[in-house]
Amino acid sequence: MENHSTVAASTPKPPDRYLSGIQPSGELHLGNYFGAIQQHVACQTEGNSFYFIANYHALTTIHDGGRLRDLTHRVAATYLACGLDPERSVFFRQSDVPEVTELTWLLLTATSMGDLQRAVSYKDKVERGLPASAGLFVYPVLMAADILAYESTIVPVGKDQVQHVEMTRSMARSFNDQYGAPVFTLPKHQLSKGAAVPGIDGAKMSKSYGNTIPLFLSGKPLKKLVMSIETDSTSLEAPKDPNTCTVFALYSLFADEAEQAELTERYRAGNFGYGQAKQLLLERIERHFEDGRRRFQELIEDPAYVEDVLKAGAQKAREVARKVTDHARAACGVA
Ligand code: ADP
Ligand code: TRP
Repeated sequence: MENHSTVAASTPKPPDRYLSGIQPSGELHLGNYFGAIQQHVACQTEGNSFYFIANYHALTTIHDGGRLRDLTHRVAATYLACGLDPERSVFFRQSDVPEVTELTWLLLTATSMGDLQRAVSYKDKVERGLPASAGLFVYPVLMAADILAYESTIVPVGKDQVQHVEMTRSMARSFNDQYGAPVFTLPKHQLSKGAAVPGIDGAKMSKSYGNTIPLFLSGKPLKKLVMSIETDSTSLEAPKDPNTCTVFALYSLFADEAEQAELTERYRAGNFGYGQAKQLLLERIERHFEDGRRRFQELIEDPAYVEDVLKAGAQKAREVARKVTDHARAACGVA
């Protein structure tokens, strides 16, 4: 007789599905690269990683159609130039999958106002002066639809997005409970490994602080930015503390342990100026992004190719999203 418990125990767990999105709300910078893009590219699996450009989310901040379209293409080209492989990842534009907005409505009816009111990111954005539109308020529900539509199990995100993944779990659970059907898979977040990348003023690098180093900048404009990184007024001769220096923190992102130790020694020894450290950083940025920069330029000059990649990705993404959305519609009695 067949032993059912052994059969159940040996059923392999389905592979994890990675999903993450990035808003095309500005030019991508070193913080985005080390905090998000690098990890997304590293997590590529054969057909089981989904990455998309969250242009619907960007509508909460950008109200200029031409600019949004342009930024969407630039972000797509940036990802491709950084090594995102459309053969191994499903790469698409959020708005090309209408199932996601369909699902957003279904989820809204299973979302508590209290949860939305407790969203820290909403409060932060309103405090920073963003218009408090209903879209901004329900932003976490659109994000939950993104995550749930593709049966994602792992969502790589930065610290600021962890609460949104928790809210997604809560919406999924409440929908499943409400209809007594296991429609949605509960996802988990995966925190980016890198600490916050500092900007040229020492605060967290962010396009909203105007302190960024854009990813593919080079030559004179890059030099000007690197040379303007704020440092303290320790004299050239005096020993310096690498642990409090923004130039050192940025250099460390590009250097291995031995190279970091070598620079630490030079800081501590004195007779080593911040200008010299900036020169080393500049060389590393130029070198690290040399291939990416070239590839980015090629892609920007070939928008039809980028468009084809996004459309083909959306087709694959829609297959999964349609199945999940139909399941959700059937559970709540609208199909
Ligand atoms: P910005 O702060 O420039 O608006 P976003 O909030 O759009 O950037 O961030 C997109 C992704 O990049 C997120 O996953 C976020 O965690 C990551 N990220 C942004 N800035 C940094 C930074 N300074 N250090 C590390 N990761 C960052
Ligand atoms: N809200 C995310 C951010 O600003 C972008 C995003 C939209 C996202 N939908 C998502 C991230 C789904 C992960 C999963 O960074």
